[in-house]
Amino acid sequence: MCGIVGYTGERGTVDVLLEGLSRLEYRGYDSAGVSVIDGEHIALRKKGGKLAVLRASLEDAPLPASATGIGHTRWATHGGPTDENAHPHIGDDGRLSLIHNGIIENFAELRAELEAAGEAFASETDTEAAAKLLGRAYRETGDLTAAMRQVVKRLHGQFTLLAMHAEQPGVVVGASHNSPLLVGYGEGEHFLGSDVSAFVKFTPSAAALDNDQIVTITRDSASVTDFDGNAVEPKRFEVSWDASAAEKGGWNSFMAKEISEGPEAVENTMRGRLADSRVELDLGALDDEVLRSIDRIVIVACGTANYSGLVGKYAIETWARVPVEVDLAHEFRYRDPVLDERTLVISISQSGETMDTKMAVQHAKAQGARTLSICNTQGATIPRESEAVLYTHAGPEVAVASTKAFLAQVIGQLLFGLHLARVRGTMADEAIAEVIAEMRELPAELRQVLAEQEAVHELAHWMADSRSVLFLGRHVGYPVALEGALKLKEISYIHAEGFAGGELKHGPIALIEPGQVVFVVVPSPRNEPLLHSKIVSNIQEIRARGARVIVVAEAGDAAVLPYADVVLRVPLTLPMLEPVLQVVPLHIFALELATAKGLDVDQPRNLAKSVTVE
Ligand code: G6P
Repeated sequence: MCGIVGYTGERGTVDVLLEGLSRLEYRGYDSAGVSVIDGEHIALRKKGGKLAVLRASLEDAPLPASATGIGHTRWATHGGPTDENAHPHIGDDGRLSLIHNGIIENFAELRAELEAAGEAFASETDTEAAAKLLGRAYRETGDLTAAMRQVVKRLHGQFTLLAMHAEQPGVVVGASHNSPLLVGYGEGEHFLGSDVSAFVKFTPSAAALDNDQIVTITRDSASVTDFDGNAVEPKRFEVSWDASAAEKGGWNSFMAKEISEGPEAVENTMRGRLADSRVELDLGALDDEVLRSIDRIVIVACGTANYSGLVGKYAIETWARVPVEVDLAHEFRYRDPVLDERTLVISISQSGETMDTKMAVQHAKAQGARTLSICNTQGATIPRESEAVLYTHAGPEVAVASTKAFLAQVIGQLLFGLHLARVRGTMADEAIAEVIAEMRELPAELRQVLAEQEAVHELAHWMADSRSVLFLGRHVGYPVALEGALKLKEISYIHAEGFAGGELKHGPIALIEPGQVVFVVVPSPRNEPLLHSKIVSNIQEIRARGARVIVVAEAGDAAVLPYADVVLRVPLTLPMLEPVLQVVPLHIFALELATAKGLDVDQPRNLAKSVTVE
């Protein structure tokens, strides 16, 4: 679960590598390193700690200028986050360096074999075995690409490897097995990276390697083969992200910037897809006939993406009258779900690289189910492995805690739900048109929500010392409560739990004691009077036991006022669209509270944005 970048060209290799690593730090940030070819040897610098530690070290003592280099940012699996365990690792007596993303499952056997053959190891990582093995293969073959072809066949697990050898300056070789690797094509330079953000500042022209491929880049070429050496032509695409979108601009954190980009994320995800009374989606193999034939949908995802799926479930079931289940991707994968060709498995993933979600998609495919990916990252593995993809267009999301991507994921599912409803004839054109008209209002309504959050700022400050915060919601407000709690625990390290209102009396109410703060997500009384009255009853129950109640409520909801200590307002919209607005004050609250505690909101402890190992 690491970020890797490789470069060959004339641009200033270390700077290019550091730029790439700063974009990939979301994948892990407990140690980092770079290496370049320096004459007959490898020059190397690697440091435990965040990228800033490595940067400072390179400023104090720069590495030599070089036209070839590789860089790595790590999330530790085998061996703690020390200088020694940081990548790159060295082989062939200091002439070869190698970096790795993934896990080499048979590393212990390989290490024993290599130690018996006289290799000395300097780290506790699984990676170093691959470096030593590659060094020996190079001595046999005299060619790094050929050596890589030998080595990949000996490794079990999942991996992306990048390596270079001092005897072949100007060459970086990469290999990928169940782990992403992308090529960036420039003029007189080429790049390799874990995703396009590693090089998009320098070139928008990219291709993603398929599984079990090897790539060799030089200044003027990028050639790809399969593991047996047969040439393949990767499919190139242009990255539509604006490189500057991954810059912090004037914001204090990426998270703050990304919350502010919610309206554009929603607008861009809808752009070109809304007609007056229909949604225009090109779902390739999932044509109308297939969509009419499915009798069940299973949404698989992790974390925030999973909560967006809970919103999708309510909308798709209501509109398209197909049963929808939402599963955590890892739970789905390791039981024996009932799947067949009439099941549509929808995976939701911002990164498109979450290992559990990817494995769930592979499992679904193997069982004959149909697969749709809702994803934010072009060229990522999960959309490439799925039959069809509905890209969300939230732009790059850098902060570990996902915010704008959640909004775009909900929108993606609403679009799909309306599309499915039309195809299956479960919703009249007028009803679809009504939802579409309300969806068009969302960006402006979101801007209004963002502009009116003074109360949240104050709240976050007086709550900075809280030990526990609870979140309550019903219907589509339930996933909003779960997401509010997840965000708070992720970045402020405060204990937080989300509950369904109806579940309160089955346990959670025992947690309520005087002073306990509970956020309650309240549906509109105008649209959902019954649900509204139910949640007001919940509020009364917890207030009677001393809770302090903060409600997220629709602007015209006066009925809730007598029961709330603080009211956070959102504009009126249709029930299924409410989460897009209601979640924003909760995202801002988590951000403000973590900031008030002086924490690093973009890189919370122990987490990574993209969990690419199981
Ligand atoms: C990690 C991140 C979360 C994210 C989840 C799923 O846990 O910290 O923010 O929601 O992975 O990521 P994905 O890229 O699949 O949406």
